[in-house]
Amino acid sequence: MKKNSWQQINLKPIKDGIDGYLCVAENAIDIPFSVQRVYYIYNLNNPEAVRGKHAHKELEQAIFCVNGSFELWLDDGLMQEQTTLDSPEKGVYMGAGVWHVMNNFSSDCVILVLASDFFDEQDYIRDYAEFKEFCHK
Ligand code: TYD
Repeated sequence: MKKNSWQQINLKPIKDGIDGYLCVAENAIDIPFSVQRVYYIYNLNNPEAVRGKHAHKELEQAIFCVNGSFELWLDDGLMQEQTTLDSPEKGVYMGAGVWHVMNNFSSDCVILVLASDFFDEQDYIRDYAEFKEFCHK
């Protein structure tokens, strides 16, 4: 996928009637990279909480809200877009070089992230001016 780009992901739920729903994300079919790491974010009880505020140099991620809702702000250095993730069936693919901010979490919000590589703090760009420079390279 292209650097500085994002794209909505729609997963099709398997509806098991009164026994609940199941959603599956498969490499190459739903997720445009090979998943190397999974993490989740929870206990978002602080209404003032703000997460993200960074971009990655190489890492690609797919972000889902498996419970509750939150707002995701996306920025490619030129254009910004805000989206609300409020369904476990809807996610966002974020390529490298996407500045992202998450806020307005419902208290029951649980965020699931699939990542294309292991954790590496060196891959983070946490300074917005540095991000703008990275976008123009
Ligand atoms: P960060 O990626 O900044 O979280 P968010 O984007 O949700 O605000 O990570 C928060 C902290 O957790 C930071 O100190 C790095 C650490 N961390 C790991 O140690 N391993 C990981 O896989 C992740 C995602 C974060």
